[in-house]
Amino acid sequence: MFVSENLGVNEKGHLTIGGMDSVELAKEFGTPLYVMDEDLIRKHAKAYKNSIDKFYGGNGLVCYASKAFCCKEMCRVMKDEGIGLDVVSIGEMYTALKAGADFDKVCFHGNNKTDEELEYAVDLKVGRIIVDNIYELERLERIAGEKGVKVGIMFRIKPGIDAHTHDFVKTGQIDSKFGFALETGEAMEAVKKAIECKNIELKGLHCHIGSQIFDIAPFIEAAEVMLKFIADIKKDTGYEISDLNLGGGFGIMYTEKDDPVPYENYMEKVSVAVKESCEKLGIKLPYILIEPGRSMAGPAGVTLYTCGGVKEIPNIRTYISIDGGMTDNPRYALYKSEYDALVANKADKSKDTKVTIAGKCCESGDLIGEGMPIQTAVPGDIIAVCATGAYNYSMSSNYNRIPKPAVVFVKNGEARIAVKRETLDDIIRNDI
Ligand code: LLP
Repeated sequence: MFVSENLGVNEKGHLTIGGMDSVELAKEFGTPLYVMDEDLIRKHAKAYKNSIDKFYGGNGLVCYASKAFCCKEMCRVMKDEGIGLDVVSIGEMYTALKAGADFDKVCFHGNNKTDEELEYAVDLKVGRIIVDNIYELERLERIAGEKGVKVGIMFRIKPGIDAHTHDFVKTGQIDSKFGFALETGEAMEAVKKAIECKNIELKGLHCHIGSQIFDIAPFIEAAEVMLKFIADIKKDTGYEISDLNLGGGFGIMYTEKDDPVPYENYMEKVSVAVKESCEKLGIKLPYILIEPGRSMAGPAGVTLYTCGGVKEIPNIRTYISIDGGMTDNPRYALYKSEYDALVANKADKSKDTKVTIAGKCCESGDLIGEGMPIQTAVPGDIIAVCATGAYNYSMSSNYNRIPKPAVVFVKNGEARIAVKRETLDDIIRNDI
């Protein structure tokens, strides 16, 4: 059994990704290699989009959180599926621009946007800038004024919801660097100030409670808190907020321990709760935005490596050394994230051993996982690590001056390079 639906085994006993032989892909493009299954990405995009159409009358927008996996080809696929983008930096905006994104469907996030980034976003006519703090509101009012335009914003709100996930990826609680707190009154103050701003149009409110969440309950709770705040704003100021952005955070399967909710169910359940709350509170139904990142890209990706050696330390552990590691996947080093791995050229064999997969950096913590069930590997085998489509390529680095792997998209039995493998000249490109 595989963690992603697009994985299988062919007659040679090789792992297949979107129907393509992973061992052949490794041979053709080299390793390490990120492989992304475009059909699965598109399937996820459609599932989210259809869920808004089906359960919320199409009154909303899916914005893919591009921090999960950003390159021009991914932005193009999203545009083609009618999906907007959540961007968090000038680099992501530039990528979106070069991919031909519709900027009215872009949300620009960040807890410390620079003036350069704000000006860039205003020039690109980003549909919604998610304002994180009062200084940013003031700077944006000034920048928009200088440019003679009115800018659409949302406020990032901390709804005070505890999402049951890793501390580093929790964001909705009061002790967070992101956004305005409700409890202290700072959120209401900011709203009143924005209403007074000449060059700002307050479109809505945003919250994002965390990532890799399997429960629907905290999303519903967050939506209810936000709607209550929208009602309070109406009562206090008469101003009607039109948009509600509920962020992303929907969990995926990394190992068999994970039990994700079908993507459609989020909007189904959240829609019911939103409609009930709005009726109770006497406010109009908001335009809803959601920002899935991991769940859009994660299951579609597999990373392929070549095993360079096996070190068996009797009574302690066995290390499998791969030609990548924390530079292409830092998530175990950062969060102790678990992954499912297999020997791609022995995918039809049973997993008869447990190993530690070690990267090639000069760093003991450079591991992909410990105690991972896998087939017995020998040097030259292709090691596949599954569900690496999100927060792997996007968090990759050049530590130890290791070039970043290529990204290949597979679709309809064909593979094409979406991001070229870095060369040694890329490594010294900016050296003087
Ligand atoms: N919207 C906002 C405002 C966010 O901050 C995030 C993720 C998302 C949407 C998308 O969340 P997702 O659907 O991907 O869970 N590097 C970490 C994850 C950090 C998530 C940051 N924000 C990891 O590798 O697990």
